[in-house]
Amino acid sequence: MKTRILTGITTTGTPHLGNYAGAIRPAVVASRAASADSFYFLADYHALIKCDDPLRIQRSRLEIAATWLACGLDAERVTFYRQSDVPEIPELTWLLTCVTAKGLLNRAHAYKASVDKNVENGEDPDAGVTMGLYSYPVLMAADILMFNAHKVPVGRDQIQHVEMARDIAQRFNHLFGQGRELFTLPEAVIEESVATLPGLDGRKMSKSYDNTIPLFGSAKELKAAVARIVTDSKLPGEPKDPDSSHLFTLYQAFATPAQLAAFRAELCDGLAWGEAKQRLFELLDNELSEPRELYRQLIAKPAELEEILQAGAAKARRIATPFLGELREAVGLRNFS
Ligand code: TYM
Repeated sequence: MKTRILTGITTTGTPHLGNYAGAIRPAVVASRAASADSFYFLADYHALIKCDDPLRIQRSRLEIAATWLACGLDAERVTFYRQSDVPEIPELTWLLTCVTAKGLLNRAHAYKASVDKNVENGEDPDAGVTMGLYSYPVLMAADILMFNAHKVPVGRDQIQHVEMARDIAQRFNHLFGQGRELFTLPEAVIEESVATLPGLDGRKMSKSYDNTIPLFGSAKELKAAVARIVTDSKLPGEPKDPDSSHLFTLYQAFATPAQLAAFRAELCDGLAWGEAKQRLFELLDNELSEPRELYRQLIAKPAELEEILQAGAAKARRIATPFLGELREAVGLRNFS
């Protein structure tokens, strides 16, 4: 049996290096294995939780669609779709919501972070918390369980969500499976070296911290972003400590072992930070220049992208529609005759 691999990206902004290294690159590589049956999608319902600007959502959907394809995704080989084109997903979300303990969602990092921030500011703990944010993990569980994914390639920040999907699947299987596994229990796949790619300031690269390096800015923009990476104040000639430098961590995510060993030695020998930034820029530009060009061509053809995504949604629904029918039966939503 083939291994089902599934992952998604929220369409709230321009894709950055963290999305690429943490999810897109490993997912595209994994999709090429003969044993893989891959599902990659644009999480545009998730985007509505964080963003109420329709133009931004629309633009981001286009950018992320073009990004996947520019990074080498073969839409014929995989199932590539928008979450919002598969209405079975929100319906499954409701079935799962009904078996999900509120206590489980109380523990979700994103919800807890909002509550903690409110408490710190002396506000009502739930100020500004929508039901969308609160039940975010259930929608994500529906994404994964709808296609019975075995493996979910993600960055470290998503591990808890995949674990919650497992918990919810187990509960549903127990209540309605009558001895069989209706849902496969998914596993997160984490590439350790890029599990949390740092941003310009050393914190996790994230749209919310505004510390990202955009994946497909021009070479000039890439160079300018790399120049803004924060380093210590060691002067040229002074030995640098690679292991405490997030510039080195970024380099590591894109270098071959030989390149990495050489860069480490140069830093220990006192390479100037300016030179080190130039080396990182060259490394990134080398990997990104070809897909960047492809991205520019793709983004100019929205009608073609639309066609690819519509075909992907039809393919996804050929699995989702009958499976949701089975699940409706299992919970007792059956026809009378
Ligand atoms: P999102 O859109 O925030 O991020 C997309 C993917 O990029 C990874 N990532 C990173 N990896 C390493 N270092 C970083 N600095 C970094 N920043 C982001 C994320 O871990 C993620 O893998 N909820 C998800 C989208 C989603 C999903 C799903 C994923 C919806 N349904 C089902 C997998 C399966 C999210 O917001 O990812």
